[in-house]
Amino acid sequence: MEHSTRHTVIFTTLLCVAFSVVVSTVAVSLHDRQEENKRLDRIKNVLGVAGLAKPGEDLSPDELNGRFETGLEAVVVDMLTGQVVEGIDPLSFDQRKAAKDPQQSRPAETNRAKVRRVPNHAVVYLIKDGDEVTGFVLPIEGYGLWSTLYGYIAIEADLQTVKGITFYSHGETPGLGGEVDNVRWKARWPGRQVFDAKGAPQISVAKGAVGSPNEDPFRVDGLSGATLTSNGVTNMLKFWLGRSGFGPYLAQLRKQGEMG
Ligand SMILES: Cc1cc2nc3c(=O)[nH]c(=O)nc-3n(C[C@H](O)[C@H](O)[C@H](O)COP(=O)(O)O)c2cc1C
Repeated sequence: MEHSTRHTVIFTTLLCVAFSVVVSTVAVSLHDRQEENKRLDRIKNVLGVAGLAKPGEDLSPDELNGRFETGLEAVVVDMLTGQVVEGIDPLSFDQRKAAKDPQQSRPAETNRAKVRRVPNHAVVYLIKDGDEVTGFVLPIEGYGLWSTLYGYIAIEADLQTVKGITFYSHGETPGLGGEVDNVRWKARWPGRQVFDAKGAPQISVAKGAVGSPNEDPFRVDGLSGATLTSNGVTNMLKFWLGRSGFGPYLAQLRKQGEMG
């Protein structure tokens, strides 16, 4: 009996060890693929918001990479000076990780988007038609009701007109705040105006429906039953388009534009 108990213990232990080895091997081998899938998903979102991929268009990894290479250029921006920085690879730079690292970020001024830290550097995508820059894709993030939403806003080369908005990660309720993913809601954004005459971010998500971009340039329809997520989108846009966010970079771009 004693003999059989010992055997059972040894057998169970070996089985546990064998399974943990299998599970960790699988986890490690899938890690690279998961990272690659995340990167491709990010590229897909950037292409979509830049108008270089249609909603729901099914693109292979090669097509995604190809469109990215021809239509976009990633640059790293110094968030304090607004200057483009050489020497940091934008394709491998992890801005979200940097924002959590005290060595690579600074505390944010108190803000409604509940952004706690601003990374010292951020990745911006230039939308290109040959050599001409036709717009900019800026990363945005901020709190909704339940979660931090991560996404992008694309603006035209005039630094004023919205090209599109998208969110690639959030934990808002499907059918309520989760409607930030709804293509019909996202289609309400292009053509809206971002800044008022003084250059302050003015775009906001309203409560209820609003008019066309001509009638209501600074407002976008609210998500019905989800005013708190809608307010979260307004707050994050005010933050990231303002002086604590991409303000210095946008000011640099305006200056370059004025100098021709
Ligand atoms: C289970 C549950 C999930 C909800 N999820 C969201 C959400 O994701 N985003 C949101 O803004 N409101 C959500 N709400 C509703 C909010 O509590 C709040 O009522 C709403 O934002 C107010 O918007 P309204 O004035 O347009 O109705 C949720 C409510 C419940 C009960």
